[in-house]
Amino acid sequence: MKWIEAASYGEMSKIAADLFIDHIQKDSKSVIGLATGGTPEGFYKELVKSYEAGEISFSETTTFNLDEYVGITEESEASYHHYMKKHLFHYIDIKPENIHLPNGSAPDLEKAAKEYESKIKEAGGIDVQLLGIGINGHIGFNEPGSSFEQETHIVELTASTREANKIYFERLEDVPTHAITIGIQTIMQAKKIVLLISGASKQEAYDRLRTGQVTEQFPASVLHLHGDVTVIYTGVS
Ligand code: GLP
Repeated sequence: MKWIEAASYGEMSKIAADLFIDHIQKDSKSVIGLATGGTPEGFYKELVKSYEAGEISFSETTTFNLDEYVGITEESEASYHHYMKKHLFHYIDIKPENIHLPNGSAPDLEKAAKEYESKIKEAGGIDVQLLGIGINGHIGFNEPGSSFEQETHIVELTASTREANKIYFERLEDVPTHAITIGIQTIMQAKKIVLLISGASKQEAYDRLRTGQVTEQFPASVLHLHGDVTVIYTGVS
């Protein structure tokens, strides 16, 4: 694993965006894995800036998002569909048919999960995957105890994850109890992975990841078994 300490949140976002921009400039047909949450907001700003400066086009790029809540509509402001439009898709030239997010409001969620996984495989897998990390070490919505062998599936969110994400909802009761997420196996099949860690709330997760101990109780630890992971961190020591 390559560890890069950034001097600030802005620098972390810029370093990460440059990695993706470089990749897309070299291969315009790249398949990119995207994450949501507070951490990558600056990353998306950098991508938009670069697009607006005419440095990059997403017209041939395909994206797959990691996850989506179950039980809220795509139009809901707390949905990851909405997040992605708000932070990235609205401003760039990506083709709508090349954008993929799991369907958390599908009538048959198991089927939707299988279909999502098939689409990733049909696209040839993910070239570069962006990840954030939950305070409990989750990646995507793969909570502690998740099998490393899983593909896209439905998960029950832990109390701590629902608590951490309640800022995006009016009340804790409104935070969905389940989500649909690509699995750890799917993430590990990405050719390159970039993990962002920012801020004091992630100190414990950062420390645990740094120990190098691999356990399903701490999902991000699986990344030690991948050959091309770059961790860009700031605000932890
Ligand atoms: C959410 C998302 C993850 C994200 C994590 C951290 O639960 N499902 O993909 O990495 O939480 O989010 P944040 O960056 O807001 O701390």
